Amino acid sequence: MLFRELTFNLANTVHFILQYFRGPRKMLPPVIVMFMLISFTCGENPALQVTLTDKGLQYGKNVGTEWVQERLALVTLPDINGKFGYGIMSIDYTLTGITIAKCDLPEPSVQFYQDTGGFKTSISGLSVALTGGWMTNFGIIHDGGSFNMAIFNMDLTSIVKLGKDADGHLSVTSVHCDAHIGDEQIQFHGGASWLFQQVVDLFKGQIKGKIEGTICPYVMESIETLEYHLQAMNVSFDVDEAFTFDLSLTGAPLINASSMNLGLKGVLYDIETHKDPPFEAQPFTLPEQPGYMFSMGLSEFTLNSAAYGVYSAGWLKALITDSMIPPHFPVHLNTSLMGPYIPQLPKMFPGLLMNLQIYAREFPMFSFHPGVVKLGLQGAVKAFAIQPNGTHTPLFKLNVDSKFSGKVQIVGRRLNGSMALDNYTLTLAGSEVGPFKTDTLERFTRGGMMMALSKLNVALGKGVDLPRMRHAQLVNTVLSVEEGFVAISSDAQVLTDRGFN
Ligand SMILES: *[C@@H]1O[C@H](CO)[C@@H](O)[C@H](O)[C@H]1NC(C)=O
Ligand SMILES: *[C@@H]1O[C@H](CO)[C@@H](O)[C@H](O)[C@H]1NC(C)=O
Ligand SMILES: *[C@@H]1O[C@H](CO)[C@@H](O)[C@H](O)[C@H]1NC(C)=O
Ligand SMILES: *[C@@H]1O[C@H](CO)[C@@H](O)[C@H](O)[C@H]1NC(C)=O
Ligand SMILES: *[C@@H]1O[C@H](CO)[C@@H](O)[C@H](O)[C@H]1NC(C)=O
Ligand SMILES: *[C@@H]1O[C@H](CO)[C@@H](O)[C@H](O)[C@H]1NC(C)=O
Repeated sequence: MLFRELTFNLANTVHFILQYFRGPRKMLPPVIVMFMLISFTCGENPALQVTLTDKGLQYGKNVGTEWVQERLALVTLPDINGKFGYGIMSIDYTLTGITIAKCDLPEPSVQFYQDTGGFKTSISGLSVALTGGWMTNFGIIHDGGSFNMAIFNMDLTSIVKLGKDADGHLSVTSVHCDAHIGDEQIQFHGGASWLFQQVVDLFKGQIKGKIEGTICPYVMESIETLEYHLQAMNVSFDVDEAFTFDLSLTGAPLINASSMNLGLKGVLYDIETHKDPPFEAQPFTLPEQPGYMFSMGLSEFTLNSAAYGVYSAGWLKALITDSMIPPHFPVHLNTSLMGPYIPQLPKMFPGLLMNLQIYAREFPMFSFHPGVVKLGLQGAVKAFAIQPNGTHTPLFKLNVDSKFSGKVQIVGRRLNGSMALDNYTLTLAGSEVGPFKTDTLERFTRGGMMMALSKLNVALGKGVDLPRMRHAQLVNTVLSVEEGFVAISSDAQVLTDRGFN
């Protein structure tokens, strides 16, 4: 459940990013850029890796044990049918409606099991008190009543194997189960219980054997139910009406004595084309951090596939008209006011309003390096004059290339960062009004860029709270940017009905 919620949260994050790219006229929440670092995507290599450590497994075990303990009271065990004696001298009996009256779960042991690539769980010295009803048929004589049963020193060992099915779902299968009951005592009430009691005492061990025989099938059935749910789980999430986020496994879980590593595809696809990006995820090694419950590695590929997705869907373009510029702004999209930048323009086309078509020439490219995130944007601007009869006359085209570098940090429960402009160049790519120098225009627009960036940095510095799920939150989270990926290691706290666990 925790994993599902986590992926869902990440899918929501991607949804935010898409909204950001898509709505150039909307007020953009600047913190979204930071969110991108927790979003994700791929090829054959996983773009997203999740490692569960033994610390995480033991925490999960404690939460799970408590969960099981709370639900044991609701369990009704399957009926037990049997027969004492032979032929016409036999008594058929049924123990039915068996519920658990009391059960103190001893601390189970759960460990990574490298041999089969799964988990080994064992419980020893379990004692359980059961209650239920009994019925007997002895020829035509029917009898019945209630019973109390105590089971002592039960040992149970279960080994499961984890794998990946053809669709990239996680799969779980039982490979071994062993149950043993040390001793059992049963007391019958009602009817001719004194008689039945004596028969049962005579065949002591039979009921114990029957109960032992039901435990492993019950465990296996539970594992099959779990497997059924895993198969039914979506491994891709529609983040909005246009994009789907693929989180299928790229391979079987890698399990050794100290950890389990899951490799997830993590590609963001356009729902209609479902086209893979024209580049592949590079392999990376997520270092094991035994001091944290889990670690997550997010490849730069994920951000780039998201960027490729929004770019190829045609969202990275905008039309700027003069009406979008506030009236008191010093510069307006009017050919007569362009003199300081393009001297010939006011002479050739006096007094006309202009439109600017802004678009990305390439998809934005992210790269991760130790301690820094880099982003390259290659954009272009096409300028048009609007003639009185409505015709758009092309004027010139500029290429605008910028490089940014950013830092990200997790302090307490907040993620913050900053962004700087490393390089900004403006070059003339074509002109219908003759050549002109771009330095003045470059200086002016760089100034505008720096102003926008400083506003963005105020918001980035404040940061955002780490995503919080309904049933769990992250604690002791650390983030580091490595070559090609971001690594996040964290502990988790499960929120129960009674508070934190
Ligand atoms: C799984 O995906 C399908 C199709 O995208 C959707 O209709 C369904 O609601 C999803 N199920 C869950 C549990 O998210
Ligand atoms: C388990 O595998 C991880 C890499 O996935 C490695 O860092 C770790 O040292 C291994 N542990 C053992 C006990 O082999
Ligand atoms: C463009 O600017 C000139 C000079 O300020 C002004 O006379 C003209 O009305 C403006 N054109 C439009 C369409 O606003
Ligand atoms: C609109 O005006 C421009 C400039 O005067 C002219 O070149 C163009 O042919 C006109 N277009 C139409 C459709 O009248
Ligand atoms: C994030 O916030 C912390 C504490 O408020 C601050 O010291 C740090 O400089 C900020 N980091 C960035 C990258 O802005
Ligand atoms: C900025 O980019 C241009 C063109 O890519 C390059 O010629 C120039 O050296 C770069 N400047 C810096 C400071 O990196």
